[in-house]
Amino acid sequence: MIIALGGTSKGGVGKTTAAASLAHLLKAKLVENDIRGQLKCIENFREHSELEKLDVEYPKNKTDLIKVLEKSTKDNCIVIDCGGYDSELIRIALAASDLVIAPCKNSTLEQSSLIEFHSVIADVSVNVKRKIDVHILRNRIHPSTTNFEDFEYISTEFKYFKLLNTVIRQRVDFEKAMEKGASVTELKKYKHSRSAKEIKALVTEIKSLIKL
Ligand SMILES: Nc1ncnc2c1ncn2[C@@H]1O[C@H](COP(=O)(O)OP(=O)(O)OP(=O)(O)O)[C@@H](O)[C@H]1O
Ligand SMILES: [Mg+2]
Repeated sequence: MIIALGGTSKGGVGKTTAAASLAHLLKAKLVENDIRGQLKCIENFREHSELEKLDVEYPKNKTDLIKVLEKSTKDNCIVIDCGGYDSELIRIALAASDLVIAPCKNSTLEQSSLIEFHSVIADVSVNVKRKIDVHILRNRIHPSTTNFEDFEYISTEFKYFKLLNTVIRQRVDFEKAMEKGASVTELKKYKHSRSAKEIKALVTEIKSLIKL
């Protein structure tokens, strides 16, 4: 089972945060696939805390990445944090994935970046002769926003896009937890918070999509 977080070329949409949160709840291995990635930094934050050591791999090249991905099985889930750019390593990860999730904020700039990604996924799909859907995750959404016509439009107009039901709001918990290198579901303080509930809802939705 391979889940890739990727998508837009804008930074800070929440790929790494979502990847780390999913890896924690799915007991998955994390794979760094971003040349400017921050998983090392997250590992360092955790080093002097009581948090469990992260299970992370840092493949340096195509051969390394393929070797890591080949180790995945139904019971050995892998979550890949892909950078927000186009590269051969990113395309390999997308091609190998059972599920691609693209977090996106509700801003026109973010959404146009996401649309650029549509041509990448279209290319990869054609190359592997398999339609790879990109599941858009509404992330960092203002707590009072209820109108999602923009997201609904994108996900119906673009063949490779689908919209996840889960909506993750802009919540300071995510930033505070990340300052400790943690996801919200790992810390007692946030265990019953709305942020943790949103991440759990995402996991439930993912599990039903890939029948985990
Ligand atoms: N739902 C959220 N609410 C509030 N803050 C969030 C949320 N999701 C992520 N963040 C915060 O936004 C910042 C950027 O998130 P993150 O590093 O996960 O984005 P990214 O897409 O991986 O960025 P990059 O492209 O630079 O790798 C972090 O400080 C993170 O804690
Ligand atoms: Mg990142």
